[in-house]
Amino acid sequence: MLSKTLEDIKRNNYQVEIFGLGYVGFPLAVRLASNGLRVIGIDTSTNRINRLINNLLMDTELRLKTEFFSSRNNGNLELTISPAKSDRPKIGIICVPTPIPDGITTSDVFVRSATENFLGFAKQGDMIILESSIEVGTTERIKELIESKGFTVGKDFGLGFCPERIDPDNKEWHIENIPRVIYCSDDVSFDIAKQIYKYVNNASLIRVNEPKIAEIVKSFENAFRLVNISLVNELAILCDKLGINVKNVIDAAATKPFGFLPHYPGAGAGGHCIPKDPRFLLESARKFSSNFSTIENALKVNAYMPKYISDSIEKSLEKMNLPKSVLVCGLSYKANVEDMRDSASFKVITELKSKGFKVFGYDPFFKSDHIEKYLIENNLKELNFEVTKEIDEKILLQVSCLCIIQHHQMTKKKIDEIYENSLVPFIYDCQNKISKNSASRTILDYLGD
Ligand SMILES: NC(=O)c1ccc[n+]([C@@H]2O[C@H](COP(=O)([O-])OP(=O)(O)OC[C@H]3O[C@@H](n4cnc5c(N)ncnc54)[C@H](O)[C@@H]3O)[C@@H](O)[C@H]2O)c1
Repeated sequence: MLSKTLEDIKRNNYQVEIFGLGYVGFPLAVRLASNGLRVIGIDTSTNRINRLINNLLMDTELRLKTEFFSSRNNGNLELTISPAKSDRPKIGIICVPTPIPDGITTSDVFVRSATENFLGFAKQGDMIILESSIEVGTTERIKELIESKGFTVGKDFGLGFCPERIDPDNKEWHIENIPRVIYCSDDVSFDIAKQIYKYVNNASLIRVNEPKIAEIVKSFENAFRLVNISLVNELAILCDKLGINVKNVIDAAATKPFGFLPHYPGAGAGGHCIPKDPRFLLESARKFSSNFSTIENALKVNAYMPKYISDSIEKSLEKMNLPKSVLVCGLSYKANVEDMRDSASFKVITELKSKGFKVFGYDPFFKSDHIEKYLIENNLKELNFEVTKEIDEKILLQVSCLCIIQHHQMTKKKIDEIYENSLVPFIYDCQNKISKNSASRTILDYLGD
């Protein structure tokens, strides 16, 4: 059955159903559809589907607008909230969120429901590829789910897990050139996957022979990032005390041609991946009554950074005898992206508010009609700061400190101008990016200096 699917794929007589049209699923859908594949983009959020149908893309998706519009116009990309029956072979690619398990919700809750939806219209010869970052054991549980519907995985139904490695705003490494690790239930399924991923990353696939290996690889990659970010953040705290610049230390260390990979400090790792995926390893360790203390400590350091930053700002303002008012700039979890999920900025703001600060927040990506979404994504009941649509003189006159959490390219000119023209008494730069200028009367402090 799967061999027949492979033949159909070679004749382009098949369709790809992508479940979840977010940061991972949307670019994948556009890429496959613009390469001539028949793609059905499925998202349970009617709001998301309606926005896409009305050509309303997110800021960072605008670079894909030509391919998206032409795929919509030539009928290669259909958008819907649920799949339908098709006589052609179908490959379902699952790109839905995977939350941290909390005792009530399991991390695979959306992966399972998307799989169930696919299976509702599946037939022999179809295949599912999981791209979401999943906990150890999920692929095997999905196999059981598929087999509970009467299919035999590896014989008449294909299953793969190919974790996405996308790094938003990375100019060098993107969906087209990042090699991918993949597990496939059988050789034909791997050949099918190669036929699809040749349009994604030229089929640069590293096959591993056990699903658990691929599952651990994904979580471990992000644990590596988390641990290293936490390591440099603790180094930054030490450098603050020593009065030396942490970036100078890291840049000098990075001259070692082997065995060192530079990471830079900041207010803490956020987003839907780095603080979350390592927890999947903790969950696995717990199931064996074992610890993963490096990850536990890294998570603690990560959680501490917003308090450290707000304490530093408070102390500096006290010394300068200035009122407790701050403009926090760069609210997303990473520079140059609009993603506000689990963002350190919201945590810094919460800390500052608990100290009685008046807080303003600015981000060129912030959209007032997405406030409800931001609150859910940051586990907040209400917005605890005043949003400013631009950084103008009126706002600057009301604050003692400009705290930069993320340096977006779009705000660089404005921030340089504020510093050079001494438009605020104090700037706290969490990313060590503003160049010191002795002509400025603004006191500039870096995290780790
Ligand atoms: N964002 C990244 O940079 C990134 C990188 C690598 C891996 N990942 C992983 O990829 C997965 C998806 O992440 P994302 O950032 O694209 O999430 P996202 O929140 O941007 O998008 C997920 C989409 O899935 C939809 N959805 C939820 N349940 C669904 C269902 N049952 N059927 C169809 N659609 C459904 C949601 O409405 C949402 O639009 C996660 O496991 C994440 O950890 C993300």
